[in-house]
Amino acid sequence: MNICFLTDNWENIDYENDSTTHIIHESVKRGHKTAVFSNNDLAIRQSIALAHMKVFIHPEKIHASPIIFAKKAKLREELLPLNGFDVIFLRANPPINEITLNFLDTVKDNTFIVNDVDGLRRANNKIYPASFHHFASHLIPETHVSKNKEYLYQLIDQSENKKMILKPLNGYGGKCVIIIEQSAKRNIRSLLDFYINDGKNKHHIILQEYIEGAEKGDTRVIMLNGEAIGWVKRVPGKDDIRSNNSAGGSSVKHSLTQAEKEICKQIGPKLVSDGIYLAGLDIINNKIVEINVVSPGGMHIINKFNRVKLQQNILDFVENVVSEKQNSIKKKLEHRKLVQDANIKSK
Ligand SMILES: Nc1ncnc2c1ncn2[C@@H]1O[C@H](COP(=O)(O)OP(=O)(O)O)[C@@H](O)[C@H]1O
Ligand SMILES: [Mg+2]
Repeated sequence: MNICFLTDNWENIDYENDSTTHIIHESVKRGHKTAVFSNNDLAIRQSIALAHMKVFIHPEKIHASPIIFAKKAKLREELLPLNGFDVIFLRANPPINEITLNFLDTVKDNTFIVNDVDGLRRANNKIYPASFHHFASHLIPETHVSKNKEYLYQLIDQSENKKMILKPLNGYGGKCVIIIEQSAKRNIRSLLDFYINDGKNKHHIILQEYIEGAEKGDTRVIMLNGEAIGWVKRVPGKDDIRSNNSAGGSSVKHSLTQAEKEICKQIGPKLVSDGIYLAGLDIINNKIVEINVVSPGGMHIINKFNRVKLQQNILDFVENVVSEKQNSIKKKLEHRKLVQDANIKSK
């Protein structure tokens, strides 16, 4: 098979902490033609979407460690059409920009994209959990989104909660997630100004109920094709509220509780029907704070704790999808030939 990965610049990837390294390693190990490219490498020639790809040269012996493999990898640059690939994994930092999605639109009917382009449009930022509200409102924390400073101020002022979470709509890795306390009222407008205005543009921001128990950590669950395949607990660092590893949090082994299993069961089918085949859920005290649909991470940590290799599940899944697709095309051609060969001559 041919598999490519949209990543941030390959040379700058943190091979040790980015789960992408593991998926790429598995792809090369299985003998798939494997390539990486970034947003900046995309082009169109005569209406065909292409990318200046870096294709992995398969070494004679593939190192067992994904990290060493990645560090030593030799790649050859080639301009290749996106629709020549059976699978495209989107593994860049979120959000995926609209122009990149437009490039992918041109191949989405023939190439399996993880995750689906239309699903990504729906779930490309932290508004997405609001679409679960009508059937799973108990799983969603009280959440407000706006770029209107006075409106947000009123919400904080009138809230029964003494503290709330403030965060950007498009953040990741815990960036700019803060607690806002009613007692600091005199600072709130100034803070809102800072978050909303960057000088040129106004940004939507999220105001969310502080979920009690967050200080004990959140559960990251990796969902593949609607099912939980891996989980880990992430605990905030000392004197911080954020449990992201990139914000000083640490990971500990975890067993999914019955309630967490139920949450995954409940939302799995909706993820799949939205074309979100691979996702990372962040659950705090049985509420979903975030659904990561672009490049969910933490898989390499889960692998260590749970003695699994999630990259194998992922590759098994995409291989199955592609082979089913190919079988159905083959069947179609056979059936077409049967019809073609039907005798239409009058005797
Ligand atoms: N509503 C909340 N209540 C308590 N803690 C929160 C809340 N929202 C976020 N956090 C803390 O901040 C971290 C990062 O927030 P999250 O919404 O997952 O954004 P990011 O995309 O930056 O990971 C969470 O893992 C959690 O530790
Ligand atoms: Mg998160």
